[in-house]
Amino acid sequence: MSAPTPAMPAETAPALSMHGIDRTFRSGKRLVPVLRGLDLKIGSGERVAVMGASGSGKSTLLHLAAGMDRPDAGQVELLGRDLGTLAEPQMTRFRARTVGLVFQDFNLIDSLSAGENIDLPLWLNGRPRKNEALDELTAALGIDELLDRLPEQLSGGEKQRVAIARALVHEPGLMLADEPTGSLDESTAADVLSLFEQITAQRGCALVLVTHNPAAAAICDRRLELRGGRLQEI
Ligand SMILES: Nc1ncnc2c1ncn2[C@@H]1O[C@H](COP(=O)(O)OP(=O)(O)O)[C@@H](O)[C@H]1O
Ligand SMILES: [Mg+2]
Repeated sequence: MSAPTPAMPAETAPALSMHGIDRTFRSGKRLVPVLRGLDLKIGSGERVAVMGASGSGKSTLLHLAAGMDRPDAGQVELLGRDLGTLAEPQMTRFRARTVGLVFQDFNLIDSLSAGENIDLPLWLNGRPRKNEALDELTAALGIDELLDRLPEQLSGGEKQRVAIARALVHEPGLMLADEPTGSLDESTAADVLSLFEQITAQRGCALVLVTHNPAAAAICDRRLELRGGRLQEI
Protein backbone atom coordinates (compact mmCIF):
# COMPACT_ATOMS: atom_id res chain seq x y z
CA MET A 1 0.00 0.00 0.00
CA SER A 2 1.44 3.40 -0.88
CA ALA A 3 1.75 6.20 1.65
CA PRO A 4 -0.63 9.16 1.23
CA THR A 5 0.78 11.90 -0.99
CA PRO A 6 1.99 14.78 1.18
CA ALA A 7 0.68 18.27 0.43
CA MET A 8 2.96 20.00 -2.06
CA PRO A 9 5.10 22.72 -0.46
CA ALA A 10 4.41 26.14 -1.99
CA GLU A 11 7.88 26.52 -3.48
CA THR A 12 7.58 23.34 -5.58
CA ALA A 13 3.90 23.73 -6.45
CA PRO A 14 3.15 24.92 -10.00
CA ALA A 15 3.11 28.71 -10.20
CA LEU A 16 -0.37 28.47 -11.71
CA SER A 17 -2.78 25.65 -12.29
CA MET A 18 -6.16 26.12 -13.93
CA HIS A 19 -8.43 23.17 -14.44
CA GLY A 20 -11.78 22.84 -16.23
CA ILE A 21 -12.34 26.59 -16.31
CA ASP A 22 -15.62 27.90 -17.71
CA ARG A 23 -16.35 31.63 -17.91
CA THR A 24 -19.41 33.07 -19.64
CA PHE A 25 -20.41 36.73 -19.83
CA ARG A 26 -23.83 38.18 -20.48
CA SER A 27 -24.21 40.66 -23.31
CA GLY A 28 -27.75 42.02 -23.20
CA LYS A 29 -29.89 38.87 -23.39
CA ARG A 30 -27.16 36.82 -24.99
CA LEU A 31 -24.74 34.60 -23.11
CA VAL A 32 -21.19 34.74 -24.45
CA PRO A 33 -19.13 31.72 -23.42
CA VAL A 34 -15.50 32.85 -23.43
CA LEU A 35 -13.58 30.06 -21.68
CA ARG A 36 -14.84 26.49 -22.00
CA GLY A 37 -13.11 23.73 -20.10
CA LEU A 38 -9.76 25.50 -20.16
CA ASP A 39 -6.74 23.78 -18.59
CA LEU A 40 -3.35 25.38 -17.96
CA LYS A 41 -0.38 24.46 -15.80
CA ILE A 42 2.66 26.69 -15.42
CA GLY A 43 5.68 25.36 -13.58
CA SER A 44 7.67 27.32 -11.05
CA GLY A 45 9.81 29.84 -12.98
CA GLU A 46 8.36 28.84 -16.35
CA ARG A 47 7.62 31.44 -19.06
CA VAL A 48 4.54 30.89 -21.23
CA ALA A 49 3.23 33.05 -24.08
CA VAL A 50 -0.52 33.15 -24.66
CA MET A 51 -1.58 34.29 -28.10
CA GLY A 52 -5.00 34.41 -29.72
CA ALA A 53 -7.35 36.65 -31.66
CA SER A 54 -8.74 39.80 -30.10
CA GLY A 55 -11.78 38.83 -28.02
CA SER A 56 -10.64 35.22 -27.60
CA GLY A 57 -10.49 35.64 -23.81
CA LYS A 58 -6.81 36.32 -23.05
CA SER A 59 -7.49 39.13 -20.58
CA THR A 60 -10.31 37.11 -19.04
CA LEU A 61 -7.80 34.30 -18.47
CA LEU A 62 -5.36 36.65 -16.70
CA HIS A 63 -8.09 38.15 -14.52
CA LEU A 64 -9.07 34.65 -13.38
CA ALA A 65 -5.42 33.69 -12.77
CA ALA A 66 -4.98 36.75 -10.55
CA GLY A 67 -8.22 36.12 -8.66
CA MET A 68 -9.64 39.42 -9.97
CA ASP A 69 -12.54 37.46 -11.43
CA ARG A 70 -14.02 34.08 -10.49
CA PRO A 71 -14.74 31.21 -12.89
CA ASP A 72 -18.27 29.83 -13.34
CA ALA A 73 -16.76 26.35 -13.07
CA GLY A 74 -13.32 24.90 -12.52
CA GLN A 75 -10.42 25.47 -10.19
CA VAL A 76 -7.59 28.02 -10.10
CA GLU A 77 -4.54 27.33 -7.93
CA LEU A 78 -1.97 30.04 -7.50
CA LEU A 79 1.33 28.85 -5.98
CA GLY A 80 -0.47 25.83 -4.57
CA ARG A 81 -3.36 27.80 -3.06
CA ASP A 82 -6.92 27.09 -4.28
CA LEU A 83 -8.35 30.56 -4.94
CA GLY A 84 -11.91 29.23 -4.58
CA THR A 85 -11.27 28.89 -0.84
CA LEU A 86 -10.36 32.57 -0.38
CA ALA A 87 -12.94 35.24 0.41
CA GLU A 88 -12.46 38.67 -1.17
CA PRO A 89 -10.30 40.43 1.47
CA GLN A 90 -8.02 37.39 1.78
CA MET A 91 -7.88 37.15 -2.00
CA THR A 92 -6.76 40.77 -2.28
CA ARG A 93 -4.00 40.23 0.29
CA PHE A 94 -2.89 36.97 -1.29
CA ARG A 95 -2.76 38.58 -4.75
CA ALA A 96 -0.77 41.54 -3.43
CA ARG A 97 1.83 39.13 -2.02
CA THR A 98 2.12 36.60 -4.81
CA VAL A 99 1.37 38.19 -8.19
CA GLY A 100 2.95 40.95 -10.25
CA LEU A 101 0.77 42.55 -12.93
CA VAL A 102 1.88 44.46 -16.02
CA PHE A 103 -0.56 46.03 -18.48
CA GLN A 104 -0.37 47.42 -21.99
CA ASP A 105 -1.04 50.99 -20.85
CA PHE A 106 1.38 50.76 -17.87
CA ASN A 107 -1.22 51.81 -15.23
CA LEU A 108 1.23 54.02 -13.36
CA ILE A 109 -0.23 56.55 -10.94
CA ASP A 110 0.30 59.97 -12.55
CA SER A 111 0.69 61.92 -9.32
CA LEU A 112 3.40 59.65 -7.91
CA SER A 113 7.04 59.60 -8.98
CA ALA A 114 8.47 56.51 -10.67
CA GLY A 115 10.11 55.50 -7.38
CA GLU A 116 6.87 55.92 -5.43
CA ASN A 117 5.01 53.89 -8.03
CA ILE A 118 7.55 51.10 -7.58
CA ASP A 119 7.15 51.24 -3.78
CA LEU A 120 3.36 50.82 -3.96
CA PRO A 121 3.22 47.01 -3.62
CA LEU A 122 5.44 47.27 -0.54
CA TRP A 123 3.12 49.81 1.07
CA LEU A 124 0.12 47.65 0.20
CA ASN A 125 1.81 44.63 1.77
CA GLY A 126 3.13 46.52 4.77
CA ARG A 127 6.57 45.26 3.81
CA PRO A 128 9.79 47.17 4.52
CA ARG A 129 11.65 48.74 1.64
CA LYS A 130 14.93 46.91 1.06
CA ASN A 131 17.03 49.66 -0.46
CA GLU A 132 19.77 47.40 -1.72
CA ALA A 133 17.40 44.98 -3.45
CA LEU A 134 15.51 47.91 -4.93
CA ASP A 135 18.71 49.51 -6.24
CA GLU A 136 19.64 46.22 -7.85
CA LEU A 137 16.23 45.86 -9.50
CA THR A 138 16.08 49.42 -10.84
CA ALA A 139 19.70 49.22 -12.06
CA ALA A 140 18.96 45.93 -13.86
CA LEU A 141 16.04 47.66 -15.57
CA GLY A 142 18.10 50.77 -16.36
CA ILE A 143 15.76 53.15 -14.53
CA ASP A 144 17.81 53.97 -11.44
CA GLU A 145 18.38 57.54 -12.67
CA LEU A 146 14.69 58.15 -13.37
CA LEU A 147 13.10 57.44 -10.01
CA ASP A 148 12.29 61.06 -9.14
CA ARG A 149 10.44 61.70 -12.38
CA LEU A 150 6.68 61.70 -12.80
CA PRO A 151 5.23 59.24 -15.35
CA GLU A 152 4.53 62.10 -17.78
CA GLN A 153 8.27 62.77 -17.88
CA LEU A 154 9.03 59.22 -19.05
CA SER A 155 8.97 57.63 -22.50
CA GLY A 156 6.75 54.62 -23.18
CA GLY A 157 9.64 52.18 -22.80
CA GLU A 158 10.72 53.82 -19.52
CA LYS A 159 7.16 53.69 -18.18
CA GLN A 160 6.96 50.00 -18.96
CA ARG A 161 10.29 49.36 -17.22
CA VAL A 162 8.98 51.20 -14.14
CA ALA A 163 5.83 49.05 -14.33
CA ILE A 164 7.98 45.89 -14.49
CA ALA A 165 9.93 47.03 -11.42
CA ARG A 166 6.66 47.66 -9.60
CA ALA A 167 5.43 44.19 -10.59
CA LEU A 168 8.57 42.54 -9.18
CA VAL A 169 9.49 44.61 -6.13
CA HIS A 170 7.61 42.36 -3.69
CA GLU A 171 9.21 39.22 -5.21
CA PRO A 172 6.09 37.53 -6.59
CA GLY A 173 6.19 33.91 -7.79
CA LEU A 174 4.11 34.74 -10.86
CA MET A 175 4.07 37.68 -13.21
CA LEU A 176 1.03 38.23 -15.43
CA ALA A 177 1.57 40.58 -18.36
CA ASP A 178 -1.26 41.65 -20.67
CA GLU A 179 0.15 42.78 -24.04
CA PRO A 180 3.00 44.64 -22.31
CA THR A 181 4.64 45.67 -25.59
CA GLY A 182 1.36 46.55 -27.34
CA SER A 183 1.94 50.31 -27.20
CA LEU A 184 5.72 50.31 -27.74
CA ASP A 185 7.61 50.69 -30.99
CA GLU A 186 9.46 47.65 -32.28
CA SER A 187 12.92 48.41 -30.95
CA THR A 188 11.68 49.57 -27.51
CA ALA A 189 9.50 46.44 -27.38
CA ALA A 190 12.57 44.29 -28.09
CA ASP A 191 14.49 45.96 -25.20
CA VAL A 192 11.58 45.52 -22.81
CA LEU A 193 11.20 41.87 -23.81
CA SER A 194 14.81 41.05 -23.17
CA LEU A 195 14.42 42.65 -19.72
CA PHE A 196 11.38 40.43 -19.07
CA GLU A 197 13.43 37.41 -20.02
CA GLN A 198 16.49 38.29 -17.93
CA ILE A 199 14.72 39.46 -14.87
CA THR A 200 12.21 36.63 -14.56
CA ALA A 201 15.09 34.14 -15.02
CA GLN A 202 17.21 35.90 -12.39
CA ARG A 203 14.37 35.88 -9.90
CA GLY A 204 12.87 32.49 -10.67
CA CYS A 205 9.56 34.20 -11.32
CA ALA A 206 7.08 32.44 -13.63
CA LEU A 207 5.56 34.53 -16.43
CA VAL A 208 2.33 34.43 -18.38
CA LEU A 209 2.83 36.77 -21.28
CA VAL A 210 -0.24 37.65 -23.34
CA THR A 211 1.00 38.96 -26.64
CA HIS A 212 0.49 39.40 -30.37
CA ASN A 213 4.20 39.92 -30.85
CA PRO A 214 6.13 36.90 -32.22
CA ALA A 215 9.30 38.36 -30.65
CA ALA A 216 7.57 38.21 -27.27
CA ALA A 217 6.56 34.62 -27.82
CA ALA A 218 10.19 33.81 -28.61
CA ILE A 219 11.42 34.65 -25.08
CA CYS A 220 9.04 32.06 -23.61
CA ASP A 221 9.54 28.35 -22.89
CA ARG A 222 6.14 27.48 -24.39
CA ARG A 223 3.66 29.12 -26.72
CA LEU A 224 -0.08 28.57 -26.42
CA GLU A 225 -3.01 29.77 -28.46
CA LEU A 226 -6.39 30.55 -26.97
CA ARG A 227 -9.08 29.47 -29.39
CA GLY A 228 -12.64 28.30 -28.85
CA GLY A 229 -12.28 28.82 -25.11
CA ARG A 230 -9.31 26.49 -24.66
CA LEU A 231 -5.53 26.57 -24.97
CA GLN A 232 -3.48 24.58 -27.43
CA GLU A 233 0.28 24.39 -27.92
CA ILE A 234 1.54 26.12 -31.06
N1 LIG B 1 -16.79 41.88 -17.73
C1 LIG B 1 -17.26 41.52 -18.93
N2 LIG B 1 -18.58 41.59 -19.21
C2 LIG B 1 -19.07 41.21 -20.41
N3 LIG B 1 -18.32 40.72 -21.40
C3 LIG B 1 -16.99 40.64 -21.20
C4 LIG B 1 -16.39 41.02 -19.96
N4 LIG B 1 -15.05 40.82 -20.05
C5 LIG B 1 -14.85 40.33 -21.28
N5 LIG B 1 -15.99 40.21 -21.97
C6 LIG B 1 -16.14 39.66 -23.34
O1 LIG B 1 -15.43 38.43 -23.38
C7 LIG B 1 -14.74 38.28 -24.60
C8 LIG B 1 -13.26 38.10 -24.34
O2 LIG B 1 -12.71 39.31 -23.85
P1 LIG B 1 -11.17 39.47 -23.45
O3 LIG B 1 -10.83 38.48 -22.42
O4 LIG B 1 -10.98 40.90 -23.09
O5 LIG B 1 -10.45 39.12 -24.84
P2 LIG B 1 -8.96 39.40 -25.33
O6 LIG B 1 -8.17 39.90 -24.15
O7 LIG B 1 -8.48 38.09 -25.87
O8 LIG B 1 -9.07 40.41 -26.42
C9 LIG B 1 -15.08 39.50 -25.43
O9 LIG B 1 -16.16 39.17 -26.26
C10 LIG B 1 -15.48 40.52 -24.39
O10 LIG B 1 -16.36 41.45 -24.92
MG1 LIG C 1 -7.14 41.67 -23.80
